[in-house]
Amino acid sequence: MSLIFKQLFERESCTYTYLIADSDSKEAAIVDAVDIMMDRDKALLEELELDLKFIIETHIHADHITSACPLKKYYPNARIVIGMENVDAEACSDIMVNEGHILNIGKYEIATIETPGHTIGCISYLVENKLLTGDALFIRSTGRCDFQGGSAESLYDSIQKLFKLPDTTEVYPAHDYNGLSMSTIGEEKKFNTMIKESYDQKAFIKNVNNLNLGLPKKIKVAVPANQSCGLIS
Ligand SMILES: [Fe+2]
Repeated sequence: MSLIFKQLFERESCTYTYLIADSDSKEAAIVDAVDIMMDRDKALLEELELDLKFIIETHIHADHITSACPLKKYYPNARIVIGMENVDAEACSDIMVNEGHILNIGKYEIATIETPGHTIGCISYLVENKLLTGDALFIRSTGRCDFQGGSAESLYDSIQKLFKLPDTTEVYPAHDYNGLSMSTIGEEKKFNTMIKESYDQKAFIKNVNNLNLGLPKKIKVAVPANQSCGLIS
């Protein structure tokens, strides 16, 4: 009788996928699944005899292709979930969520928190004390804000909202590039190099503008594919 919570890694884009399930009811959700790791994810679902109920995206990714649609072929009852602002993905999604939506996995509730800024339609998901932050809040860093409707002002406000959660809330990002796996809200308020508690919005915007990152290698393929939930035309 417990929450199954697995953090899974994909090396090429340093993406974390999360598998969340109720060990009793066997209902499961997968968050930010990556196309090239679908066999691993399917094998794990089968091994644990889980019934995939939700295929959840934190946002439209630019660095990898989601396996949402391909996975749904194997689990036709699963519902694809994405933030309401992602209008391009409306046609391929089953549930468009905004603030305060609840997704039930057996006796567990996954609650949605709107955290725009990295892109326009980013959603964070909270289950028990575990917060899946997508590309809004990273461990000691944050997502970039320079494409797909990104806005440093919005990301600042989004992260201030997350910082109101209890300090013991565990933070699970969609990526880590430094070998770290999880953090807490309390730690990030103290040590995040982009947006620690003492930084005001101006300081954060300056930090975001100084990121100077190249474009993700797969952006031209990944964005349109992800706007179709992983179907490549
Ligand atoms: Fe992203």
